[in-house]
This record gives sequence, C-alpha cells and structure tokens, in this order.
Amino acid sequence: MTMGAEDVTTIETAVRVETKRSPLPPRERLEQVFDIRDLDAIYGSKPAVKGVTMEIYKNLVTAIIGPSGCGKSTFIRCLNRMNDLIPGFRQTGTLRYHGQDIGGSDIDPVAVRRTIGMVFQRPNPFPKSIYDNVAWGLKVLRMKDSLDERVERALTQAALWDEVKDRLKASGLSLSGGQQQRLCIARAIAVEPDVVLMDEPASALDPIATQAIEQLMHDLKDEYSFVIVTHNMQQAARVADMTAFFSISTGGEGARWGELVEYDDTTKIFTAPSDKRTEDYVTGRFG
Ligand SMILES: Nc1ncnc2c1ncn2[C@@H]1O[C@H](COP(=O)(O)OP(=O)(O)OP(=O)(O)O)[C@@H](O)[C@H]1O
Ligand SMILES: [Mg+2]
Repeated sequence: MTMGAEDVTTIETAVRVETKRSPLPPRERLEQVFDIRDLDAIYGSKPAVKGVTMEIYKNLVTAIIGPSGCGKSTFIRCLNRMNDLIPGFRQTGTLRYHGQDIGGSDIDPVAVRRTIGMVFQRPNPFPKSIYDNVAWGLKVLRMKDSLDERVERALTQAALWDEVKDRLKASGLSLSGGQQQRLCIARAIAVEPDVVLMDEPASALDPIATQAIEQLMHDLKDEYSFVIVTHNMQQAARVADMTAFFSISTGGEGARWGELVEYDDTTKIFTAPSDKRTEDYVTGRFG
C-alpha cells in the first residue's frame, strides 16, 4: 500500500521521532556486528521465530519492537546463545558475529556471552555488595588490575556512581529498582563487552531512571553496540538508530510464530513504514 500525506501525518503524531538525530551513513558503510540469515528459533517442536534475516551494525542502537509473543526475547537471546540454557531449544540458520559463525554446537556459549553481554527485564543483582556485583565478572575474567578504577568507571558509565559511591559495601539488593537495573548495566559493561543486549530494560522503571538508561545508551554507543527490546515505541523512537518490527504469523492448526516484518532506519519505520502491518502497529491500531 502506498501512503498519502495524511497517513504520514497520522504516524508522526502517534510517535515523535527525535528530530535532532543525525542521518545514518549508507548501510554499506556501516560495520556489521551480526549477520543473521534465515534464523529459526524452536522450543521443542514449536518455532517461536522463523526466517529472520538481518544485519546488526556496530556502534548503533538497534531496537526490536512488536506485539507480545512475537519472539522478541527469544530472538535477542539467540544473539548470545542464552537460549541454550533452555532444555529442548534449538536454533537453525546462520548467525555470524564479526564474520564468525557462532550458531553451531561447537561454539562455547560461555565465551560468546563474555563479549555479548545481557541485561534483563527484571533487575537481577547478585546478593552481594554493590562493589562485588560490578567486580564479579572482572574477577572471573581475571581482569583484576586496577579493579577499583574499573568498578568506578562502570558505575559512572551506568549513571549510578554518585548515588552509591559512599555505600559500595551495601548489598546490591538494598538499592531501588531503577538503581538495581543501572547496577546490572554496570555489571554488564564492566567487562568491556562488544555488544550489550537489553530485553525491556526500563519496563519496571520510573521516567527518570528510564531516561538515565536511554541517555547512557546514547552516550556509550561509540564504545558498544546495543540491541534493545522495547514495548515503548517512544523509547525506540528516541534511542534507536535502526528498528526491527516483528509480528506474529499464523498457519494451519493454530500454528503461530514470529517473523521479522520490516527493518529500517528508525525514522523510516515510524514515519513512512513500507509494510501495512508496521504502520498499524506504530500508529497503535494493533498490538
Ligand atoms: N522457555 C520457553 N519454552 C517454550 N516456549 C517458549 C519459551 N519462551 C518463550 N516461548 C514461546 O515463544 C514465543 C515467543 O515468546 P517470547 O518470549 O520470545 O516473545 P516476546 O515477543 O518477547 O513477548 P513479550 O513482549 O510478551 O515479552 C511464545 O509463543 C512463547 O510462548
Ligand atoms: Mg519478551
């Protein structure tokens, strides 16, 4: 369907895309972090997502949006092999990370997760001190030189340092929800990963903590590549350079699975999407 001027106006009023963003360079000039070809993610015999083909680029924020159950969490967990922990799960297709195939059974998922970190929807600090939460990965990886500086740097990057610098020995669990989530982000970035995956990191947070997390993604994307799942379309419009819209397809006998409908510059997705399903979703007519 081609959209007339009226439709575009409707879309712009539904979600305001950050106008001060600078335009993205052409795709061929962007460095690929992930090259995903025909990825299927299957629980037992039920596919949760099918046929995902997309590239994810370095030093950008990439948002994954779509209705509940379309496989956003499943997909993002494929990227660092986190689903391997679920019995009966398998993924097929090709998942290349900086050119290396990391989808196969010969790859050590623990090694993958060292460079591709993850922050979950619910803050999950360890029942340890604030300091030890952040230092934990550094100790495991034997990155023990200048430990104090590394902990401070990670907490500063996660916009938490000022709030906790006087109580680093207090339990991570004594922090508020928003502080706990920033602690988990500090823990994830302390080990200097290459990619940070975030599955609805701000869904349980107040607007101020949400803004802090969005700001930190913006500030840190020169160093990291972020992939974020979000239900909040304003958030995707604010923070993401590229946005992927997933939707649910249905087949015979009640089969349902998620698929990638459209993937493009965030501005395009929110102001002039190519697919009617994307348009319906971003204008709030569906989902
Ligand atoms: N551990 C699991 N075992 C079996 N099926 C699962 C598991 N996790 C998810 N699924 C199924 O995979 C499909 C996609 O789920 P997923 O959690 O990836 O969706 P989502 O897009 O993240 O949804 P939401 O927006 O509600 O978080 C759903 O049908 C779900 O029931
Ligand atoms: Mg989810």
